[in-house]
Order: sequence, then C-alpha cells, then structure tokens
Amino acid sequence: MQVAARKTNLPHIVTALPGPNAKKIVERDHQVVSPSYTRDYPLVAKTGRGAMIEDADGNTFLDFAAGIAVVATGHCHPQVVAAIQKQAAELIHMSCTDFYYQGTVDLAEKLASIAPGKGAKRVYFGNSGTEAVEAAMKLARYHTKRDKFIAFNGCFHGRTLGSLSLTASKAVQRKHFGSLLAGVFHTPYPNTYRGAYGGRPENASADALAHIENELFKRLVDPEEVAAIFVEPIQGEGGYLIAPAEFLQGLERLCRKHGIMLVADEVQSGMGRTGKWWAVDHAGIEPDMICTAKGIASGMPLSAVIAKAEVMDWKPGAHASTFGGNPVSIAAALATIGVLETEAIANAARVGEFILQQTAGWRERHESVGEIRGKGLMIGIELVRDQKTKEKAPELRNRVIDMAFRKGLLVLGAGENSLRLAPPLVIDEEQATFALSTLDACIAEAERAL
Ligand SMILES: Cc1ncc(COP(=O)(O)O)c(C=O)c1O
Repeated sequence: MQVAARKTNLPHIVTALPGPNAKKIVERDHQVVSPSYTRDYPLVAKTGRGAMIEDADGNTFLDFAAGIAVVATGHCHPQVVAAIQKQAAELIHMSCTDFYYQGTVDLAEKLASIAPGKGAKRVYFGNSGTEAVEAAMKLARYHTKRDKFIAFNGCFHGRTLGSLSLTASKAVQRKHFGSLLAGVFHTPYPNTYRGAYGGRPENASADALAHIENELFKRLVDPEEVAAIFVEPIQGEGGYLIAPAEFLQGLERLCRKHGIMLVADEVQSGMGRTGKWWAVDHAGIEPDMICTAKGIASGMPLSAVIAKAEVMDWKPGAHASTFGGNPVSIAAALATIGVLETEAIANAARVGEFILQQTAGWRERHESVGEIRGKGLMIGIELVRDQKTKEKAPELRNRVIDMAFRKGLLVLGAGENSLRLAPPLVIDEEQATFALSTLDACIAEAERAL
C-alpha cells in the first residue's frame, strides 16, 4: 500500500509539548536568561523554512507570529540567505557612522523611492524599532526646536527610556523605571470597535481629533511647543486597531496647521505587511517621518527613519550608532525588498482578503468573537465575554493561544484580549485555511470550557 507523503507546509506534532529536548532548554533558560521576557508557551525553535518552524524535538509548527511580525519573506528565504552569506564573506562591518558603503546608499535610495510622496527623502539607520523611534524623537526636537510630544493611549513605540515615554501599552512596561521624559501627552486612539474615550464607535475619528484640539491644546500644551505627534496607523501591541483614513488625514491637517512633525511608527505595520508598502498608504497621507524596522530585513537587525529631506537637517555628530546600517543587515534588506516587490506584498493583500472572507461568519458562530479586523496580513481577532457588552476576554484569548500551540499553530496575542495573525507574507491559502480551522476549533473548545 502506498502511504501519502506528509505535507511539509503544514504542522506535524510528534511529541508531547514541550518535548524532552525543549524541556531541558527551557529549564536552562530559566536559570540564566533575563526573566523580563514574556513567553506565552514553550516553543524552542531550531530551524525555520518559509512559514514553518521545527522545534528541538522534531515537531513542526505553522508560524503565524513570524518572530513578532519580522520574517516578512518567511524563515530563511533562499534569496535572503544567499545575500547574507555573500555579504558576510566580503565585509561584515566598518560602521557607516565613519565610512561609506554602497549598500547603505542603495537601500536609502530604495526606501526613499517607496516612501509616500514625491519629495526628496533622507534615511537614518539603526538596529531596532526603539532606536528608530529614539532617532525620530531627537530629530523632531532638533528640527522644530520644540520639545513636547503627543502619543496615543494604547500605543507601543519601544522600551528604551525615550520611546518608553511615548509607550502607553501596559503598566508593567513602565513600573519601577522612574520618571520618563517630561512633556509627553497621551490622547485617545480612534478605536472604531469601542469608540474613542467612551464615545460612539462611528464618531471615533472625530472624537479623537477633537480631543487633541479641545483638550490637549486648550488645557495642557500649546501646540507651538509640540515637536511631534507619533502615531501607529495600525496599533500593533495595542490590539491590531486600525486608524480610519479620515483620522490619519485629519491628523496630517492638524500637524500642518500647527507646524508639528507627523511621525508614522510603521515598525510593525510597514514593509508590505498590510498589502501596501506602508499602512499610511491606505490613507494617502505623507508623514514627515516614517519609522520602520521588524520586517525590513527578514530577521536581521535593522531599522530606519525615512524623513523628508528638509526635515533631516541635523549636523554631523548630532546622532549616530556604531552598528546601524551594517552591511549584512543591509544586504538582507535589499534582498527582502526584492522578494516583497515581486511577490510578497501582493500575496499579503490577496491572502489577507481571503482570511477576512473566510472569517466573515465567525461572529455569528462564536459568541466570543467581538471583531475581526485587518489589512493584508495584519489581522486581529478581538475576543469578548459578551458581544453586546464587549467585556474583554483575556483568559479565553490566552487559552486559545495555548491550545493552538498544542495543535501546531503559533500565534501571539495583541492588546488585552486580541489574537494577532501576523504570518510571513509568503503563506499560501492552504496554510491560511489550516490556521483558521485550528483557531475556529480552539475558540469553540475554549468557549465550551468557560
Ligand atoms: C509599532 C512599534 N514600534 C516600536 C517597536 C519597538 O521595536 P523593537 O522591539 O525592535 O525595539 C515595536 C515593537 O513591537 C512596535 O510594534
């Protein structure tokens, strides 16, 4: 009898989880690695290919987390690996702070060409999302000679002390870290499911804009002192909340009116994840700066601030980083962008739409599904205890994540009670179907256990 070959693009679990090798590594990790990391389940990744991860015991998983929305082209895409290997054999580092590389110029030109708007751009390179945000904060102060910032409730911009002053995601991220930057003001995000600040969901954009003009600018800070407004066009850690186009357009007008820099933090939403290069492209706005990282180099550490050329006017020595824009990460980014523009962005738009269509009936089937929202392959499923009251269901969400892991599907949470679907942008419909049927079953099982 002929046995059908096992599909390599779908999961296969061969041990109890965690398996014996994974268990040993987790135990050693708990002795020596910083306890500040938040691991939802004991995945010990060993190898990766495309959207599949193999663990230390030979179990394979379908990865709908992508290293926190990082491996845009999938794990170890052959073109990215070849670019890294070639560059590593030629030159690993000299520091673009002190010397020139062709790759840095190539990538800066490419990023400038894909950034919104026709005007000239300049690009600063760092190594992580938080460094891009720090650089944007400093550049906004430098350029405007103002020192105040506005950010949104629920936002996440990083964990170093400057970016942490903007971040308003979870109290644990701030607890015991003392006073942060003075002069940062937080304002409601246009949450179209719950409304901005208790208002009606359909008024979320208008309410969120009015709050800035009528509350912040009248009572707390004169707009002439505000250097920048930082906005995630889709809040990532906040729960995959999508700011409506009219809100982003209104924010752009408000910034222009008051001479405030508009900074789009596209660390999570950028580099094609939403089916366009940038989430702001869906609203047709042109921020003064875009921060990008995560997906830019398929897992190699790299970040960038793409600014309007007239805004990036700082002088030599004003800001730099030893490793920022290192040749190996740059080579990975150039290869990544090649894959994104030839296939992966279009695939993200197509498969993302497929997922939204396939899940359209879930609210009727599952009392705990509050809302499913997304653009491209940045999709959030908000789980609630009751669709009418919208009471959040964090325990149920956490249970679904754990159950999915045990069935071979890797997902992460976002916000207090949402599931985040952030797979590599190269997944196919069969993988999407597997992920959805797994989540469907896990949600039903978790609901029954309530
Ligand atoms: C929107 C956004 N900005 C900034 C960051 C910080 O990036 P990093 O962890 O690379 O410092 C993140 C990370 O999740 C993010 O989602």
